[in-house]
Amino acid sequence: MDTLLSNDPRTVIEADRAHVWHHLIQHKPFETIDPRIIVEGRGLRVWDIKGKEHVDAVSGGVWTVNVGYGRERIAKAVADQLTKLCFFAGASGTIPGAQFARRLTEKMPGLSRVYYANSGSEANEKAFKMVRQIAHKHHGGKKSKILYRDRDYHGTTIACLSAGGQQERNAQYGPFTPGFVEVPHCLEYRAGDLGGEGYGERAAQAIEDVILREGPDTIGALCLEPITAGGGIITPPKGYWQRVQEICRKYDILLHIDEVVCGLGRTGTWFGYQQYDVQPDIVTMAKGVASGYAAISCCVTTDRVFEMFKDDTDKLGYFRDISTFGGCTAGPTAALENMAIIEEEDLCGNSARMGEHLQMRLNEMMEKHACVGEVRGKGLFAGAELVADRSTREPLPEKQVQAILADCMAQGVIVGASNRSMPGFNNTLLFAPALIATKDDLDQIVAAVDGAIGRVVEAG
Ligand SMILES: Cc1ncc(COP(=O)(O)O)c(C=O)c1O
Repeated sequence: MDTLLSNDPRTVIEADRAHVWHHLIQHKPFETIDPRIIVEGRGLRVWDIKGKEHVDAVSGGVWTVNVGYGRERIAKAVADQLTKLCFFAGASGTIPGAQFARRLTEKMPGLSRVYYANSGSEANEKAFKMVRQIAHKHHGGKKSKILYRDRDYHGTTIACLSAGGQQERNAQYGPFTPGFVEVPHCLEYRAGDLGGEGYGERAAQAIEDVILREGPDTIGALCLEPITAGGGIITPPKGYWQRVQEICRKYDILLHIDEVVCGLGRTGTWFGYQQYDVQPDIVTMAKGVASGYAAISCCVTTDRVFEMFKDDTDKLGYFRDISTFGGCTAGPTAALENMAIIEEEDLCGNSARMGEHLQMRLNEMMEKHACVGEVRGKGLFAGAELVADRSTREPLPEKQVQAILADCMAQGVIVGASNRSMPGFNNTLLFAPALIATKDDLDQIVAAVDGAIGRVVEAG
C-alpha cells in the first residue's frame, strides 16, 4: 500500500497533525502532544489509535450517538440504499425520505411537514428563513424579528450565532445578522433575587417584557432549547413552558423549539418539549436523528406554517431554499433504522429510568463534594455545576473544570463540560451517554468524576 495511505498509527497521527484543522480546539499544544484519533466504537465504548479504551459519557463528544456505536443494521440498510440510489435533489422525493417523514411526524402530534438538511445549524437557518419569509408574505415585512435566549446555542453559522446566547462562541465573529433579540435565561441557580417560589412564571414574564419593549408586531418567532444543553443543562423551572406557550399565542409569535440535542430520546421522551406539554410550531433536530451514522437534520413544521407558503399568484412565494445534501438518501435510511432501534429496545424508557439512576449518583456526589453546587437534568442528559464556594456560588475556575475532564480522560472516561461558552461560567460538567447505558456504565462514569474531583479540587 502507498505508505501515505497506511493505517500505521504514527503515519496517521503525523498526517492529522500536518493537515487536519480540528473543530473547536486550539492547535498550539499539538506541536508537542499528539492529536487524539478515535478509530473504533462498540456500544458506548470507543478505542483510540493507541489502543486505549474509553467509556464515552458524551455520545461521540457532542451528544450524537444515541443508539451507541457499531450498529450493523444501520450500516447495512445505508449500504443497500446507497447502491440503489445515493442521492437526488430535494425538489423530488425519495423512498426513505417519504417513509422517515411519515414515521417522524407520527411521534410529533400536531406537526406534519419535514424539511431535510444536514446539520443542526442548517435546520435552524431553515426555520429562521421560514419566519422571515412569512413576515414578508403575510405581515407586510413586520414580524421579522426572532427572539433567542441567553445561554442557548443554535449553531455555528453567522445567522445561528446571531441567535446565540453564548458570548464566547460569538466573540470575534461579528458583525452579526440584525433582527435577533435576546431574552433572559431561566437558570434559577443563577437568577439571584429573582429565584424562589414562582420563578418559572417570572422567567417567562421576562420574555413578555422583551416582546412589549420591541413591539409584538415586530416579532415573528421565539427560538428556545427545551432544556439548554451546552449552556449548562438548564432544566426549565416549574410553570415556565406553560407561560411561554401562552405568551406566544397571545402575540401570534411562532414557537420554534431546537431539539438538536434533546430530540430522539435523550431526555426520556421522543422530544424534550414533550416533557413540558407544549405545542411548538417549528421543531428542528439533528444529532440523534441518525445517531451520527449519516448526516441528517430536519426542520419540522405544522400544517399552518406549511400552508403559508402555498400560493399560485406570487412567483417567489414558495420556500425558495435548498440543501444539496438534504437529498442524500443515507440520512433518512439511517434515521429509519435508528428510530426502529429506539422503539424495539425501548431506549426512551431506558433513558428515563437510567436518568434517575444518574441523578441519584450525581446527587450523592454533591453530598460528598462541596464543589458540586447543583445537579440538573432529565433522562440521560445531566449536568453538575461546579463552584469554588457553595455559599457564594462562585464558579469553579474553568482551568480546574478542564483538569477534571483531563483526569477522567486519563482514567478512560470521556466526560464533557460547558466550554468556550459563557464568560466565567464554563463550570458545568455534562453527561449524555448513549441511551443504552446501564447502571454499571453510569456508576463507572460517576466514580471517575468522583476520583477526579478529589485529586484536582480537594487534593490540589
Ligand atoms: C441546541 C443546539 N442546536 C444546534 C446545534 C448546531 O448543530 P450542528 O453542529 O449540527 O450544526 C447544536 C450543536 O451542538 C446544539 O447544541
